[in-house]
Amino acid sequence: MIARTATSPVNTLDFVKVTENAALAASRWMGRGERDTADGAAVERMRDALNAMEISGRIVIGEGERDEAPMLFIGEELGRGGFEVDIAVDPVEGTNLVANGLPNSIAVMAISERGGLLNAPDTYMKKLAVGPKAAPYVHIDAPVRDNLEAVANALEKPINEVTVVILDRPRHAQIVKECREAGARIKLISDGDVDACIATAVQGTGIHVAMGTGGAPEGVLAAAALKCLGGNFMGKLEFRNDEEVERAKAMGFGSADRLLTIDDLVKGKDVVFCATGITDGDLTRGVRFFGNNARTHSIVMHSDGTVRFIESVHRLSARPVSIGQ
Ligand code: FBP
Repeated sequence: MIARTATSPVNTLDFVKVTENAALAASRWMGRGERDTADGAAVERMRDALNAMEISGRIVIGEGERDEAPMLFIGEELGRGGFEVDIAVDPVEGTNLVANGLPNSIAVMAISERGGLLNAPDTYMKKLAVGPKAAPYVHIDAPVRDNLEAVANALEKPINEVTVVILDRPRHAQIVKECREAGARIKLISDGDVDACIATAVQGTGIHVAMGTGGAPEGVLAAAALKCLGGNFMGKLEFRNDEEVERAKAMGFGSADRLLTIDDLVKGKDVVFCATGITDGDLTRGVRFFGNNARTHSIVMHSDGTVRFIESVHRLSARPVSIGQ
């Protein structure tokens, strides 16, 4: 167990400090047009927070290969020692969203026992995500209309009340067309498909399905969240060039057509997922500064089915915390 046990002194809730720290750092750069600076600040704070934990952590999804990323690179070992865990991070999911002050950017992390999170290559992934009620009835290989009908039936609503989230990219023209022909509502987003996938499994977001192609590492993070929420996620790798094909082969991926189920992506039995809002979003509110303090809003879930929303106040210097707006 990752949660507190004889072998692990780490409490599930301790992990939220990691995404809180990343969100606090990135939020300082909101709207300033500097996506890499925002990302760099979050990476550094996330790494410091992980290094302060009593874990023997290993990054399986991070900022890139060792030669491309100075911090949080794949294979980097973090923590003060303790229970062995694999870690998937995205310190800023939606770097453009932060740079432009737009909604739905989050700092994200998933943790599991060793071997529990797929080390996905840095390529694209075709994705399908739904919440628990529709989970058994959809398939990534099914026609768009069939999946929408399945979701509508599972949610006991007409198709024209089903909302699909799709990244606004030219590559999705056909999916958009098919969703429109089927009569579904569509929310086109400029970035941030992890948040969108998770929102399908959270009542009240008004989002019922996420479809389309985005980053493969983001797919693993979304799958970890949906595993905790009882939703479904399916993926298929999509390669942009021969180099990506070769890299994926070297990592043990055979054909691009291989179906990656939620259990292929997240084998772990003991999974923790945390996300903290950087800007306001469907799931979480963004970082707000007041007085000498900042307030963060996070979602923390465990694969045992526990979901918590956590609001924290952080004192930014030595002055006392005041709980206010
Ligand atoms: P970054 O945070 O790395 O900028 O990724 C944002 C994102 O929108 C992801 O949510 C999504 O999976 C991916 O980029 C889509 O990639 P592309 O912008 O190449 O279509």
